[in-house]
Formats: sequence, C-alpha cells, structure tokens
Amino acid sequence: MSWELLLWLLALCALILPLVQFLRFLRADADLTLLWAEWQGRRPEWELTDMVVWVTGASSGIGEELALQLSKLGVSLVLSARRVQELERVKRRCLENGNLKEKDILVLPLDLTDTNSHEAATKAVLQEFGKGFFSALQCELIQYPGITFCNVYPGPVQSNIVKNALTEEVTKPMKTGMDQSYKMPTSRCVRLMLIAMANDLKEVWISDHPVLMGAYMWQYMPTWALWLTSKLGKKRMQNFKNGLDPDSSYKIWKTKRD
Ligand SMILES: NC(=O)c1ccc[n+]([C@@H]2O[C@H](COP(=O)([O-])OP(=O)(O)OC[C@H]3O[C@@H](n4cnc5c(N)ncnc54)[C@H](OP(=O)(O)O)[C@@H]3O)[C@@H](O)[C@H]2O)c1
Repeated sequence: MSWELLLWLLALCALILPLVQFLRFLRADADLTLLWAEWQGRRPEWELTDMVVWVTGASSGIGEELALQLSKLGVSLVLSARRVQELERVKRRCLENGNLKEKDILVLPLDLTDTNSHEAATKAVLQEFGKGFFSALQCELIQYPGITFCNVYPGPVQSNIVKNALTEEVTKPMKTGMDQSYKMPTSRCVRLMLIAMANDLKEVWISDHPVLMGAYMWQYMPTWALWLTSKLGKKRMQNFKNGLDPDSSYKIWKTKRD
C-alpha cells in the first residue's frame, strides 16, 4: 500500500469517526461514558454481588424498580421510605421475583427530612448486616474508600413523581392518570444505574434528547444553557403550578421524533 493511499484512508477515518459519534449521540439515552460502560464495561451481574444496598425512596418509582433489579442480582437490601405498607409490598415483590431470602431484606421506615433519626437508622442497618452501605453522594466520602458514591441525574422517567409533586397551592393535587408512555421506562433507567455502579462511575446522566443535550449544554456551555432555559422554561413552570405534567412539551418533541 502506498503512503498516499494510507494518508487518504486516515483522512477518511478522521471524517467518518466524528460523524459516527455524532449519529450515536443523536440516538443516545444517557451520557456517552455510561453508554460506553454499557457496551464494553463490567456487567452488574458480575460486579454487584456480596453487597448491601440501602435504597431510600424504595416504596415507589425508580427506587422500587432499583430494589427489584438488585434483588434479582442477589444483593441484600435495606428498603426505606415513609410508607411502611408500600415498603412491605416492595419487599414481597423482591422475594417473589428476586434471588433473596427473608433475612436478606430489611424494611426500615425513614423520613429523610427528619435528620435526628438518621443515626439510629444507620446503626440499625449496621447491626442487621454488619457492614458498610452504598448510598451517600458527598465528595467528603472520598476519605472513606469503603463507601462509594455515584450521582445519578435522570431525565423524565416513568414513576409516581408527577402524582406526588406539589402544585402552586399545597392542597391542590396534581392531575392524575397522565400519560407517561413517552418517558423513559423505569427498568431502562435502573439498568443504566446498575451499570454505573458496576463500573464505579461517579456521575451519570440518564435521559433521551432533548434533556440529554440540555445536560451537556449545562456542563459545557452554561451561559447558553441558562439563556435557553429562560426561553423554554416558562411553560414548564406554568404547568407545574397548574398541576399539569411539566414535561408535556417534551412529550410533543418526543412524539414527533418517534
Ligand atoms: N421520574 C423522573 O422523571 C425523575 C427525573 C429526575 C429526577 N428524579 C428523582 O428521582 C428520585 C426518585 O423519584 P421517582 O421518580 O421514583 O418518584 P416517586 O415515584 O414519587 O418516588 C419517590 C420516593 O421517595 C420517597 N420519599 C418521598 N419523600 C420522602 C421522605 N421525606 N423521606 C423518605 N422517603 C421519601 C417516596 O416514598 P414515601 O412517600 O413512602 O416516603 C417514594 O418512595 C427523586 O429524587 C426525584 O427527584 C426523578
């Protein structure tokens, strides 16, 4: 092969590779590091064994699905939220569908806003399982290598978040029965969370476009992101206040795209 041909091939690769990356980005439903880890990285099935995971917000939505998928991996669980009955329901689901026994799941009712109860709750977990837990997010934990953290930023995901959200008037409930099919399935969001955990990623963004594009903009072009948000965010805030799904504009965009 002549040098000239080799150079042409290299130039062609230099053109094609960014184009392929750009097309992949358009189809992405999470940040590119996380998607790379999903493709080439460590599998949750190999990595997340012999662990205890404390799931806060385990009675509904993303937390419930996280508990369920972890139970299938045989990970011991601490399930926390305020509603005990709902936690017991999630525990039953985990026992029926997962690889855990009764003794592997601790239901620990907890109101996270009641900071005075945190120490007793932590002691209860340590007494039950006798080892550290996986939950904290703060950088200060770097000095405790036994505790890892990962910040997860989900975009619109199917859950009860809209139903449970507050409106402008605290007593006015959100409109119920809203269509959520255009949002990311909870199972996909949680699968990507497990991949992030298995690969020890410190921060991940899980969303389709345009929210994913927004996350990249906030990271790399914050001034433009703020300008755009001030233009597009008004309708979203108005929807919030009126008890409507704040992501309805996203729904229109997503429906057109699909
Ligand atoms: N779904 C989305 O589109 C989306 C997007 C971005 C971020 N997020 C974030 O993801 C997390 C999970 O939300 P989700 O969508 O799964 O909503 P969800 O279905 O409403 O679940 C919220 C969970 O948090 C628990 N919880 C609420 N207040 C609590 C408190 N004071 N103490 C302890 N537990 C409490 C609830 O249980 P109890 O009522 O029984 O306490 C429930 O289990 C939230 O932090 C949310 O902000 C969600």
